[in-house]
Amino acid sequence: MRGIKVVLVQNDGEARVIDNAPIGTTLMEVGRNAGVDGILGDCGGGCSCATCHVYVDADWQARVGAADEVEIATLDMVSHIVKPSSRLSCQIVLGEQLDGLKVTVAPLD
Ligand code: FES
Repeated sequence: MRGIKVVLVQNDGEARVIDNAPIGTTLMEVGRNAGVDGILGDCGGGCSCATCHVYVDADWQARVGAADEVEIATLDMVSHIVKPSSRLSCQIVLGEQLDGLKVTVAPLD
């Protein structure tokens, strides 16, 4: 199956490039499986832990879309580091339209 390219910039400044992210998986799963620093995914993608928090690059925000009410409530747990570009990566399902997606991993605290 064809994958897409996603880029996750870690807090140490390293850009982790994943070239074969499977369509239909979430950005959290892809980042966690690749060992991206700061993507823990403690709740397994249940939108309840905020350990998969990322900042979506400005160029990609329109295509990624906005958080829903449940996600916004979870983001409130880390409100001190939430920005307008914040999303929980477990709620970003990868599709062709996100080929090239770039995000920055939020600090864990
Ligand atoms: S993995 Fe827990 S909120 Fe995303």
